[in-house]
Amino acid sequence: MASAAATDRQADILRPSGQKALLIDGKKISEIVLAEVAAEAKALTAKGLKPGLAVILVGDNPASQVYVRSKSKAAQACGFHSVQYDLPDSVSETELLARVDRLNSDPAIHGILIQLPLPSAIHATRVLERVSPLKDVDGFHPFNAGLLSIGDLERALVPCTPAGSMLLLERAAAALGAEISGADAVVVGRSNIVGKPMAQLLLSRNATVTIAHSRSRDLKAIVGRADIVVAAVGRPEMIRGEWIKDGAMVVDVGINRVPGQGLDAQGRPKTRLVGDVAFGPALERAGAITPVPGGVGPMTIAMLMANTLRAAKLSRGLS
Ligand code: GUN
Repeated sequence: MASAAATDRQADILRPSGQKALLIDGKKISEIVLAEVAAEAKALTAKGLKPGLAVILVGDNPASQVYVRSKSKAAQACGFHSVQYDLPDSVSETELLARVDRLNSDPAIHGILIQLPLPSAIHATRVLERVSPLKDVDGFHPFNAGLLSIGDLERALVPCTPAGSMLLLERAAAALGAEISGADAVVVGRSNIVGKPMAQLLLSRNATVTIAHSRSRDLKAIVGRADIVVAAVGRPEMIRGEWIKDGAMVVDVGINRVPGQGLDAQGRPKTRLVGDVAFGPALERAGAITPVPGGVGPMTIAMLMANTLRAAKLSRGLS
């Protein structure tokens, strides 16, 4: 039986929505993950192994600058050795590859993250493949994709967004008394970064997995059969709430900015963030659902920290 403390924590991360569905609080769960990572990093540092994360930003994309700053700050908050390289748009691919090589051979660095997108003059795949698979905390290297696809989760570094989504699903399933094993799961979206690795993770948990995408013929019917829906298409509210099966668990990976109502303080038209799922109607049908914002979003950085900690441990043969 669950302890009282565990039950309290569960109640804390799954909030009533005023409708049928429980809200899965990704912010709270990410804080729990970050606190666990920080505690373990402290213990490792005391033993002479301080996890190190290097983040590389190329160019001055404002959104990338915000993401990268958050990643570096989170690494510092976890007690990691944290370095950030801000390289100009004009950096050559050769220079960037040389930077990656230096970080690959730096024993103080256990994780390397190259913020995407890269300028079009740089061959992104070539750069990502130059990162040592052992330091590939984004999980984008084909070696890690391969480990995940053969189900070697002991060794694979798994992309952060699907890893975080899986954690949210596990918490939701535990709270609802539902099983992931044997469940019908649909992943809407087939990207290498989210859709495909998410499908592999669900498969490794013995779900029956369908990958749907923009060319799928009857998305409504596919979603309507699913006990688990992971939406990662990047299209605002494309998954209609009425499609959701009664009691299904819904993880919404989409973060889409759409026009809001009225003007902001500077007189510009307001915008708001919505997911790939029409949230309001879905609340009336789902058993549990992640909100946007405050669902999957905060988990991505938390899992990046967890991956960096893991990479540090794996570098010393610790599991
Ligand atoms: N750009 C947007 N999201 C990501 C991410 O998760 N990793 C990297 N490297 N770049 C991104």
